[in-house]
Amino acid sequence: MDNRVKRDNKNSFGQSYFNWELVEKKNSFITISTVNHILGQCRNIGKPISELEVLDVGCGAGQFTFEIAKKVGSVVGVEPFKEAYLKAISKKRKLKFGKNITFQNIPIEKYDTEQKFDLVLCLTTLEHMPDANTSFNKIYELLKEGGKIYLTVPNKLWPYEYHYRLPFLSWLPIKYANLYVRLTRRGASFEDSAYAMSYLGIKKFFDNFPCRYEFIVPDPREKFLGLGSTDFFYNQMKNMGIWFLKKFSFFWFFSKAFIIVITKKRLSADIKHSKFIINCAKSTEAKIKYLHIKREA
Ligand SMILES: C[S@@+](CC[C@H](N)C(=O)[O-])C[C@H]1O[C@@H](n2cnc3c(N)ncnc32)[C@H](O)[C@@H]1O
Repeated sequence: MDNRVKRDNKNSFGQSYFNWELVEKKNSFITISTVNHILGQCRNIGKPISELEVLDVGCGAGQFTFEIAKKVGSVVGVEPFKEAYLKAISKKRKLKFGKNITFQNIPIEKYDTEQKFDLVLCLTTLEHMPDANTSFNKIYELLKEGGKIYLTVPNKLWPYEYHYRLPFLSWLPIKYANLYVRLTRRGASFEDSAYAMSYLGIKKFFDNFPCRYEFIVPDPREKFLGLGSTDFFYNQMKNMGIWFLKKFSFFWFFSKAFIIVITKKRLSADIKHSKFIINCAKSTEAKIKYLHIKREA
């Protein structure tokens, strides 16, 4: 039986790559190790982990939302795809914990709230956003100063597209990619997953935001890598890849995916810094004036 959901039109949030059997089966040790890795990156947010306010953008059926909720203050999961949202809601009803979780069935661009978050998760979601600039402006607006975004995204140039499990799909112009997806009967079109970026594309994209960002090289022992694969050949390749990435950043071009941690600049610190510069400038000006008067006297 085909569990994938058919998309009706290109603006709907019918994400046709979703495989519900896989969603149900996802190993919890992978979820736990991912969440531990995420929280490991939050040490200098300036708050205990148990008090963090977290936003999970494109939370799907809530796989990571539920896990992280056990450790932080509160989580809002935003998910526009109705079926995934309903799964998350029904799972929440069955749980004993979860009072600190809220789900919203809307795209992030339409999320209207006064709340600001310490941590935003954006796990394999960027590649589904046709207008990444608008989406990220919104995400950035929702982030507190000094807050962090933990983002994972596949590399557009990786030869195997993992949503539709087709080689070279993301290399093709959208017209041909759609045709490829249809001919191989993997779905109605590629448009719901077609916006992954390359290493340079991501750098260019985040250079336009007032943020610091860092490509994270995970420890090769992290369980979430390769979804916990124990395959000998895969593990050798993974270890070698990580070794090369640590030595030469050039190898990011060939990375299968990226983990990026983005920190929102503390504007207050910047303002303090500019006030300091203005004061320095003022005192220099005053000194010059004083010397000038003295010389004239
Ligand atoms: C590959 S799934 C990832 C789900 C979950 N983050 C995970 O890692 O299991 C991507 C999700 O992003 C959602 N999405 C796409 N565009 C979005 C938008 N503009 N705002 C919020 N979520 C969006 C999709 O509906 C989908 O559930």
